[in-house]
Amino acid sequence: MTDNAIPPATFAPTTTRADSQHADGTLIDRWGRHISYIRLSVTDRCDFRCQYCMPMKMKFLPKREILSLEECLRVARVFAELGVTKVRITGGEPLVRTNVEWLCAQIAKLQGVREVAITTNGSQLPRLACKLRSAGIRRINISLDTLDANNFRRLTRTGSLSVVLEGIEAARAAGFVGGVKINVVMMRGVNHLELPQLATFAIERGMDISFIEEMPLGDIGHSRGDTYYSADEALTDLRRIFTLSASDFDSGGPARYWKVDGTEQKIGFITPHSHNFCASCNRVRVTATGGLYPCLGQNDMVDLRPALRGESSDDVLRHKILQTMAIKPKGHEFDVYADGAKVVRFMSATGG
Ligand code: GTP
Ligand code: 5AD
Ligand code: SF4
Repeated sequence: MTDNAIPPATFAPTTTRADSQHADGTLIDRWGRHISYIRLSVTDRCDFRCQYCMPMKMKFLPKREILSLEECLRVARVFAELGVTKVRITGGEPLVRTNVEWLCAQIAKLQGVREVAITTNGSQLPRLACKLRSAGIRRINISLDTLDANNFRRLTRTGSLSVVLEGIEAARAAGFVGGVKINVVMMRGVNHLELPQLATFAIERGMDISFIEEMPLGDIGHSRGDTYYSADEALTDLRRIFTLSASDFDSGGPARYWKVDGTEQKIGFITPHSHNFCASCNRVRVTATGGLYPCLGQNDMVDLRPALRGESSDDVLRHKILQTMAIKPKGHEFDVYADGAKVVRFMSATGG
């Protein structure tokens, strides 16, 4: 079938589940993929400047362009009415947004939403872990790219390893325990020798861990090809110290998991370059300014903000969301070896 011959995106027939009254299977893209997961960014700001994510001198958006928490909630509600069951709050660093815990609590109460999760750099968790738990968050993904304090400082430029470690402990103490996952972006020459040590750190504490291939989003001052470290290389490193068996566990995200023998833990790999996962994509992203991006690795978007800020009804929003299903591409086309990034947005602008 050619691209042009593809049928338009549509709503699937709505079936109402007798137990929860929530509509199942309502958003389908033109490739037949069911969209059940939104990643909702609440800010483009961050207190870190991770080397793989943004330049040191980062320009953030004026606050007036950022959606209010009420506008974010409305977006989540309309998506939930369209069958979305999983909402992940992202940034920038989502926990630098004042009162984000209120938004989490409201989203967790929406009919149809089964899981509200958050992805964070961990710096605000000493202050917020308990509040997030009370708000109904059950899963937190925390970035931790190195356990060496000096390397952490170099990599994040402004972050402190001890604060993030304190944040991880605060999350575990707040009761997240198995709900904490560590995210590591792999960079050759920066942290690639530390991957087994990071996995050991997570596993000893009862946490899963995901290793992520660095994605070329925005020009950040180094060549992505120089730092690219593949999941296959990492798997070889990890197999020197762990016995791993392939697992069919599916978190609803892009990671593919391996079970660590003799433990309850899993090691995940997010492999945009080495093993494309776009065929099973179930998600779209909403930026902090209301841009609805059907793909992290492409530039197409539909702006929801005019409809959110005007007098428009939910029908208009629903229409725009459906429009986005019609432009969701088959997949990303990342090339770590290309000169300059094809996608000029930084990861922090799209919400990861
Ligand atoms: P789980 O719910 O735990 O599976 O989380 P997740 O892996 O979906 O989310 P997280 O925010 O922890 O993201 C981990 C990494 O996966 C980040 O680098 C994301 O940018 C990346 N990621 C998530 N979704 C996609 C996607 O659709 N495409 C690509 N290329 N990367 C993605
Ligand atoms: N490539 C891969 N992962 C990235 N992240 C941020 N920038 C990149 C990138 N260029 C990760 C963060 C966090 C998640 C939101 O995305 O480390 O785990
Ligand atoms: Fe901030 Fe996350 Fe980007 Fe690091 S990866 S600079 S913590 S948004």
